[in-house]
Amino acid sequence: MDELRLKLAVQKSGRLTDPSLDMLGRCGLKLSRGKDQLMGFGENMPLDVLFVRDDDIPDLVQEDVCDLGLVGLNVLEEKRLELRERGHAARFQQIRTLDFGRCRLSLAVPEGVTFEGASSIRGKRIATTYPYLLQKYLRERDISADIVTLSGAVEIAPRLGRADMICDLVSTGSTLQANHLREVETVMESHAVIIRTPLALPPEKDEWVERLMMRIDGVQQVKESKYIMLHAPRSALPEIRRLLPGSESPTIIPLEGFPDKVAIHAVCRENVFWETLESLKKAGASALLVLPVEKMLA
Ligand code: PRP
Ligand code: ZN
Repeated sequence: MDELRLKLAVQKSGRLTDPSLDMLGRCGLKLSRGKDQLMGFGENMPLDVLFVRDDDIPDLVQEDVCDLGLVGLNVLEEKRLELRERGHAARFQQIRTLDFGRCRLSLAVPEGVTFEGASSIRGKRIATTYPYLLQKYLRERDISADIVTLSGAVEIAPRLGRADMICDLVSTGSTLQANHLREVETVMESHAVIIRTPLALPPEKDEWVERLMMRIDGVQQVKESKYIMLHAPRSALPEIRRLLPGSESPTIIPLEGFPDKVAIHAVCRENVFWETLESLKKAGASALLVLPVEKMLA
C-alpha cells in the first residue's frame, strides 16, 4: 500500500454510507470499487476509502490504520466514555462537523406500555449497543437500571423477552415503527463528523487533508445556496437588500439605457423560497432568476 495515500474510514453499510459517498463525490473524488471490496481506490486523488463497521472507526483512526474517519458523534462519544472509564484519553481529533447523519440516541418502549419518566425506567432492563452513553444518562439522573449490552439487533430485544425497553439510534423512526416501539426520551443528539489521527502526517498527506476539508466546507456551503439575479429601480435598493436571504454584498450593475434601474446579482446562503421572490417583486424587482450554486471557494 502506498504510504503517501490518505486512508479514510467510512461506514460499510448503514445510515451514513450513501450520504458519505455522495459528499466525497461532490468533493470531486472518483472511487473505483469492486463489488464487496473493503477498499475503494481514489482514481483522481491520493485518497483511499476503507469500508468498515462504524463502531470500529474511532479505533482505526486512533491506531493510525486510517488517517481520517467519517463517523457519527454517537459512536465517537461512546468511544470517548469507554476510553475514559479505562483511564485512557481519546487520541482522535474531531476536525469537521458535517451536515448529515442527524439522528438521536433515544429510549423506546413497546407500544402500549405507559411511560412516565424516571419512574418508568427505574429497575428496568434496557437493551443497547451504547452502554456508556446510557450509563452516563442514567447516572446524571440518579436512576438505577439494568443495562443489557448487545452488539446489534437491539430493536428485537423486548420481543425476545431480553429487555423491557431499548436505547438506540432513531433517524426516520422506521426501525422503531416496524418493531412496534415508541420513542419516549432523547439521550443524545447526533450527526456525522470527521476525525483525524493526532499524528503529524507527511506534508504531502497533510496538504491533501487540508484540500479535502476545504472542498467539504465548499460542498456544505453550497448545499442551500442560490445565485439570484434581478432588475430593480435604484430607489428600491435598500428594501431589496433587506429582503435577500443571507447575502452579504450583492453586485450592483448599471443597466444600459435605464439610468433609474440596476441589475442585482447576489449569492444567498439560504434557500430562496417563492415567498421571498414574491416580496422582491412587490418591492419593485423584475426579471428574477434563481440558479443553484455548484461550487464555492472562499
Ligand atoms: C441505526 C440504528 C437503526 C437505524 C435507525 O443504525 O441501529 O438500525 O439506524 O434508523 P431509522 O430511524 O431511520 O430506522 P446505523 O446505520 O447507525 O448502524 P448500526 O447498525 O451500526 O447501528
Ligand atoms: Zn454501529
